[in-house]
Amino acid sequence: MKLLCVSPLDGGRPFERALTHLGHEATWAPDLDQALRIARRTPVDAALVPDDPAVLEELRGRYPHLPLIAFGERDSAIAAARATSWGAMGYLPSGAELEAAAEEVLGDLILRAAARNRLEERRRARLEETLRLSKFYSDVLTSVGQGIVVIDHSGKIRYRNPASARFLGETSSSKDTGGELAGRAAVPVLQQLVETLTENESRTQTIALEQDQKKMFLDLTTSVLRGADGKASGAVAIVSDRSIEKSLEQQLFHTERLATLGSLLASIAHEVNNTLTSVTGCAEMGLMVAEQAELNAADARTSGREQEADNLDGLAKEIRQIFDLVLEAGISCQTIADNMLQYSRQGKPTHRSQQDLNKLITRTVSVLGKHLGVEKVNLELALDPRSPRSRIEPSKLQQTLVNLIVNAVQAMLDMEDVPLDERHLTIETERDDEAGRAVIRVRDSGPGISPRRLEQIFQPFYTTKDHGTGLGLYICRRVIEDQDGTLDVESEVGVGTTFSITLPLK
Ligand SMILES: Nc1ncnc2c1ncn2[C@@H]1O[C@H](COP(=O)(O)OP(=O)(O)OP(=O)(O)O)[C@@H](O)[C@H]1O
Ligand SMILES: [Mg+2]
Repeated sequence: MKLLCVSPLDGGRPFERALTHLGHEATWAPDLDQALRIARRTPVDAALVPDDPAVLEELRGRYPHLPLIAFGERDSAIAAARATSWGAMGYLPSGAELEAAAEEVLGDLILRAAARNRLEERRRARLEETLRLSKFYSDVLTSVGQGIVVIDHSGKIRYRNPASARFLGETSSSKDTGGELAGRAAVPVLQQLVETLTENESRTQTIALEQDQKKMFLDLTTSVLRGADGKASGAVAIVSDRSIEKSLEQQLFHTERLATLGSLLASIAHEVNNTLTSVTGCAEMGLMVAEQAELNAADARTSGREQEADNLDGLAKEIRQIFDLVLEAGISCQTIADNMLQYSRQGKPTHRSQQDLNKLITRTVSVLGKHLGVEKVNLELALDPRSPRSRIEPSKLQQTLVNLIVNAVQAMLDMEDVPLDERHLTIETERDDEAGRAVIRVRDSGPGISPRRLEQIFQPFYTTKDHGTGLGLYICRRVIEDQDGTLDVESEVGVGTTFSITLPLK
């Protein structure tokens, strides 16, 4: 053992021999200052000090765990009691010579000091280990992505890890416990914690809620918190965010539903198309009958059979009226069935060839314009004289143009109080050699589309029309993407809408 002996006069000298005799190492300091300096430099196991309260208390204050053995001139129980009250673990009278009995007591005191040191060391090691473990657990709880909330048996929040703030929100008063919880999940989480506590059983559920305008799906598991004695001391909740998996699941479900719907539509469209072919075929035959009746009427009129001719003409007119209607309805149904077939990707394969886009637009407008209702608006063609060309399938681009023109015309016709000369439909082309692309813009001065609706218009079956399928734009975008192009939209409510088809320049 290493002892620090503080001995101002020769008072400590009698101990010197005894210590050597007992086999301990001693360092002597003449006063308190020196003693403190030595203790700072080298660790000592115990100190032998005069029974001066100032010295004892100073050392006790600085080194609370250092065993102190006091010595003094008086050999009395009172002197010993006073020394212990000043912080010493034992007291020895110091005479001119240390008697054998006193030497024995000194030896015992030193052994007790050693035992106390060992105990203190073990206590310190245990404390360090506890602190290390506590830091480790705290790091784990802080690092996990799940929110963890603990309540005590009175329902008060005792602990919540940082991740829980995402679900429960920050507390208004303290970040840790207590205070008002602002998050939308706070109520269901706390409710389930209290139920777990009162009913003494674990629970698991998925909760769906909206926070910051986003849908959130949380897996919430609550369990009873038990101490080492097995008694319930509170409840703990673990909250995990399942929003991403849920939204993927929903997307998958949606895609599967659309795929199923697609094949269903394909088979219906196929059947409908077959039937429609017979219907339009019959209508055409009906029209031929009307034509024949008109010819017969002409014959009858040349032969002077006026009455018969009038009857035949009347009949022909009626037949024509009926079958014109049937034919028109049949063709419009065929367009819908065609859209459905396109939706399920059962359309014709693409045969691409280099096309002059200006020519294709002019042809489409002159051949189909009347059917598309362009005479009801002001049509302007602003075609780039540098004739942009692209490798595309002409019928597919034509189909897209038709859809965009019909949409634009319908949108402008809906604005009943706007006069005809204020309804503008402009189709423009632009050749951008630098970017290597051609752009076709279909611009209208219609009502425009709000930003919220703008996100939806390309989705299948999104329509605001009584008789629309909502497949037009969805198919257009797919068709253009199949030709390595893009279809985009820009719109301003009250100003109009522009759809831009961008294709590679070839
Ligand atoms: N030029 C436009 N101006 C304003 N709204 C438009 C315009 N083009 C499309 N829309 C909106 O987008 C929706 C979807 O258009 P889409 O062509 O896909 O289907 P639809 O026209 O409703 O039906 P279908 O094409 O089968 O007749 C329309 O219902 C309409 O609300
Ligand atoms: Mg449409």
